[in-house]
Amino acid sequence: MEARENWRSRWGFVLAAAGSAVGLGNLWGFAYKASQGGGAAFLMIYLLIVFIVCIPVLIAEMVLGRSTGKSPLIAPVVAAGSQWRPLGLLFVVASCGILSFYAVLMGWTLDTFFHSFFFGLPNNLDEAKLFISSVSKGSSVFLGQLASLFLTAAVVASGIRNGIEKLARWSMPFLFGVVILLAIWSATLPGAISGYQEFLLKWDTSEFLNPETIRLAFGQAFFSLSLGIGIIVAYSSYLNRNNQLPKEAFWISGLDTSVGILAGMITFPIIASFPQVKEVVGGDFVDTLFVALPTGLSSLGLTGQIISVLFFGLIFIAGLTSAISLLEVPVSSLIDQFGFTRSKAISLCTALIFIIGIPSALSSKTLGTVATYMDILLLLGGFVISILMGWFVTRKFDEDLANSNSNLRVRKYTKFMLRWVCPPAIAFGLIMSIIDVL
Ligand code: PHE
Repeated sequence: MEARENWRSRWGFVLAAAGSAVGLGNLWGFAYKASQGGGAAFLMIYLLIVFIVCIPVLIAEMVLGRSTGKSPLIAPVVAAGSQWRPLGLLFVVASCGILSFYAVLMGWTLDTFFHSFFFGLPNNLDEAKLFISSVSKGSSVFLGQLASLFLTAAVVASGIRNGIEKLARWSMPFLFGVVILLAIWSATLPGAISGYQEFLLKWDTSEFLNPETIRLAFGQAFFSLSLGIGIIVAYSSYLNRNNQLPKEAFWISGLDTSVGILAGMITFPIIASFPQVKEVVGGDFVDTLFVALPTGLSSLGLTGQIISVLFFGLIFIAGLTSAISLLEVPVSSLIDQFGFTRSKAISLCTALIFIIGIPSALSSKTLGTVATYMDILLLLGGFVISILMGWFVTRKFDEDLANSNSNLRVRKYTKFMLRWVCPPAIAFGLIMSIIDVL
């Protein structure tokens, strides 16, 4: 068996975890979901969930990974006994399920990137519709999906330090820089204010009780933070004691949330500024990003083309740093459980994930359905993790955090939240989600 690696530095871990968190979910999902009607209510519920519910669960996942030093499949069993085996299985199933459709979306992004680069942008809606159907249908979809999975596998094959950590260190600062630049550029557009108002600030009190808004906010919070799926367990199993986990959890969620909001500040002004694209927004879920945006940008000529290339390149890289974290879950699990070599585990998982992604590649409706159910699995995972770490693994939990010098008050707060607040809150989100989906 290969020796277990660890992170080169504290920031390597934080950036890799933030890299997992920041992805298509922020750059496209957040804006899309906020525009589904929830507006400001969605944003507020989302922020509340992140800071009240998700941060304690994030810390719990970190402790589970670091204190056991095991992969997500095995960590719950090592921490609390074999009756927790189903949680490990849920992690593996959910991460393969998410990566199966995530790779398809990455493929569309890659395709849009190349299209914008080589052929320019669509000039009107008809051209835009042709553009998206050439991106989301036919053989180019499989090509994009395969290329994305292949790149993901290549990074994971280089290991923790030389693959995952290195990519995160290079790409994350670049990504933050480009997101900020694009948000500033968007703010100068004529429709900037009405864009913010229409989507992010749209106020409707009844949305607070709308099961759909609640489902979208819960799902988005967990999806965006890569929570409830064992990714943080996997990444934390390569940690040593130097990291003060609560602090890292704040960093990761702060970075992730900022990128989500900045992404909204990029897309909404563009959509509001170009009247010809307004009519497509609110239609099929791919339209906002893959039709409205390139079409709007086309009216700016070369500037628009450059922005589009930058934006879709950025989304792809953000997707890649998330996809590698998804692949690391089943890969590290196979290595730990069966003593596979890294490369054998990677080949097996990548092939399997490609196959289960075929239905999503063939139909964007199926893709949407798979994504909705996966959000529910994340909530279920988060619920079980808070019960496990709040009620069953309490000694190890305290010891692990105490050993890394974290503040006593923060520790007490986290434990209280994990016991009394997270389980009922997540259960509520889970029930609302199931009601809404049915
Ligand atoms: N957090 C990633 C994003 O926002 C997606 C993801 C979800 C990655 C779940 C890992 C686990 O795009």
